[in-house]
Amino acid sequence: MVDPEALWREALYGPGGFFTRGAVPADHFCTAPLVGPELAEALLVLLDRVDSALGRPDRIDFVDVGAGGGELSASVRSLAPPHLARRLVVTAVDVGPARSLPGVVWTSEPPRSVRGLLVGHEWLDAIPCPLVEGPCDDPWLARWWPVRAGERAEVGEPRDRAWADAVSRVAAGAALAVDYGHVLADRAAGRYAAGTFAAYRGGRRVEPVFDGSCDLTAHVALDACGAAAGGGFALVSQRDALAALGLTGAPGAAGRVDPADWLASAERASRIAELRAVGGLGSFGWLLHGVGVPVSSLLPPLPPWRP
Ligand SMILES: C[S@@+](CC[C@H](N)C(=O)[O-])C[C@H]1O[C@@H](n2cnc3c(N)ncnc32)[C@H](O)[C@@H]1O
Repeated sequence: MVDPEALWREALYGPGGFFTRGAVPADHFCTAPLVGPELAEALLVLLDRVDSALGRPDRIDFVDVGAGGGELSASVRSLAPPHLARRLVVTAVDVGPARSLPGVVWTSEPPRSVRGLLVGHEWLDAIPCPLVEGPCDDPWLARWWPVRAGERAEVGEPRDRAWADAVSRVAAGAALAVDYGHVLADRAAGRYAAGTFAAYRGGRRVEPVFDGSCDLTAHVALDACGAAAGGGFALVSQRDALAALGLTGAPGAAGRVDPADWLASAERASRIAELRAVGGLGSFGWLLHGVGVPVSSLLPPLPPWRP
């Protein structure tokens, strides 16, 4: 019998697979680290809060799991303010080919013990999982995604396990998953009755094929991932999280500043607007766990995520 999860895994990570061959988002779709440096700036504000909560230790980690082309790691490394930069160790983790980035350690396995901030940016959506059509008898679906006859779904259990493992590697600090996804209330209401499995190639959505020629992905049940990893966590929108970290992006008033400065500030404002757009990147979920650090010391109370 055909096992779609195994086909998906082989197509992305088998010999000759899409990511094994070194495909990166920049070639096929846009992710927030490719928009500009602003996501890294916001994550440095978050890292600074983690660092402060940990009492400014001798070493502070930033770990980028599923680093792809390494753009986020490179930006964090180069934009870190001096008080962090001299103690900062940036580690990019990816199963694809290693890349050489100044000041960034590249590895294929997350470090065993992280003290600082671990981030999985659009990582969990790239983890293959069972694709099913209802009705079906599965404990994960029974808890997280009630599927009626003829409806399709993805069983998020492999993502739950991957995220719980990543969070367990944080000895002290925080772990953040950023992804597109859904929550139980909307799944149960049938909003994703066709499932969310999809394929992308060369900047376009295409018909999924399991031959390694395209990225294969599905939305992430971030609420299930949060529950699987346990501990204290917040699940909020990227739009709200970025504002809470200081990225709101109002451009300076024209006429009062040098035109070149005004243009640069307008460009920055438009990148921030893209990162915060409702229905776009702003509707991504931020799943933030504190480990030995209360989440309330990292983000203020924000409305629960409802993409
Ligand atoms: C959609 S890309 C995201 C890349 C980057 N974080 C970004 O947002 O631009 C997902 C990446 O996760 C990597 N990946 C998938 N499973 C992994 C694993 N178990 N460990 C490390 N990397 C993994 C893939 O190779 C791929 O580069």
